Amino acid sequence: MSKQILILPGDGIGPEIMAEAVKVLELANDKYQLGFELSHDLIGGSAIDQHGVPLADETLARARAADAVLLGAVGGPKWDKLDRSIRPEKGLLKIRSELKLFANLRPAILYPQLAEASTLKPEVVSGLDILIVRELTGGIYFGAPRGIRTLDNGEREGYNTLPYSESEIRRIARAGFDMARLRSKKLCSVDKANVLEASQLWREVVEEVAKDYPDVELSHMYVDNAAMQLVKAPKQFDVIVTENMFGDILSDQASMLTGSIGMLPSASLDINNKGMYEPCHGSAPDIAGQGIANPLATILSVSMMLRYSFNLTAAADAIEKAVSLVLDQGLRTGDIWSAGNAKVGTQEMGDAVVAALRNL
Ligand code: IPM
Ligand code: MG
Repeated sequence: MSKQILILPGDGIGPEIMAEAVKVLELANDKYQLGFELSHDLIGGSAIDQHGVPLADETLARARAADAVLLGAVGGPKWDKLDRSIRPEKGLLKIRSELKLFANLRPAILYPQLAEASTLKPEVVSGLDILIVRELTGGIYFGAPRGIRTLDNGEREGYNTLPYSESEIRRIARAGFDMARLRSKKLCSVDKANVLEASQLWREVVEEVAKDYPDVELSHMYVDNAAMQLVKAPKQFDVIVTENMFGDILSDQASMLTGSIGMLPSASLDINNKGMYEPCHGSAPDIAGQGIANPLATILSVSMMLRYSFNLTAAADAIEKAVSLVLDQGLRTGDIWSAGNAKVGTQEMGDAVVAALRNL
C-alpha cells in the first residue's frame, strides 16, 4: 500500500532546502522501493498570500490524511505587520496542535567532520550526541488567557499563561523516558521549579513517571543552569526532557554546539508516532533566494521520518551515511564552512547527497 507524504515547503529558504530534501526522498523511494506518494501544499506566509490564512482547512485535512508531513520553515518580514491571529507562525502552531504532535525530538549530534565549525573548543563538543525532547503542544505557546490589554491607567500590558496539566506532563515524560531507554538510560528533566508552579507540578509528575522506569537514571536541572551546563560541559547530557518554551530556547543553543543550526533535524510525533518532520532552523529571510542555505537539516529530517514514522531503518541509515560522506568530501555550505573546505550552495550540497546515496 502506498504511503502519503505531504510536503509543505513554507517560506524564505523553505522551498530551496525542501527541493533538495525531496530529491533525496525521491531517490530513496526508488532505490529502496518505499512506495511513497508525495504531494505539495502551502503553509505560513505563502498560504496567507494564496488563501488569506497561514493554514487552510483543506491543507490541514490533507495533513491529517497523510502518513507523514515534511515541512520547511515559515515566516518572513513580508508578513510581520499582519494581525497577530494570521501570522505565518500561527499556521505552524496550528498544525502542531491540531495533529496533536506533542513530542518534539531534536537531536544535536556533532559530525566529527564539523568539530572545527563549532564555536566551542573541539574537546568540549567532540562526540556530542544529545537528544532534546521538547513538549510541543502545551505551555505558554498555547496557554490562555493571553493578549495585550489596556490597564486602567491607560498603559498597555502584554500577558501570557503557562499551564501544564498532569496528563500533558505525564505523556511527554514517558516520551523522554522511552527515548532514554533506547540510548544511555540517562534522562535530565529541565524546569524552573524554584520559581514556577507549572514547573513544580512538572517535577512531581516526572518523579511519579520515573517509578515505571527504574532502569533510567533521572536528574532534574533548572533551566538557567541547563543553559550554562550546555556550553560548559555539554557531554554530561544524553536525553533532556523539557517544556515547550525552554525546549525552543535550549534546542537553538544546543544546535550551535554542533557547528550550525543548519544541521539539526527534528521529529514531532503524536501518541501513535504519526509525525511531522522539519529542520529546527527557521525561514532565514536574510539569505532566502540566494541558493546558499544548508539543506542538510531538512535532508536529515527525511531520515528521521523514515526511522520514526515508517521503521525503515536501512534507508534512514543510508541517508545519514550519505550526508556523512559528503562532509568527508569537504563540501560545506557557508554556515558550516571552515578553512580548507569547499564552499558550496544549497543545490550543489543536495546533488552531492543524492550522488552519495545513489552509490551506496
Ligand atoms: C521552532 C521555531 C518555532 C517555535 C517558531 C517558528 C514558531 O522557533 O520550531 O523552534 O517557536 O516553536
Ligand atoms: Mg525555535
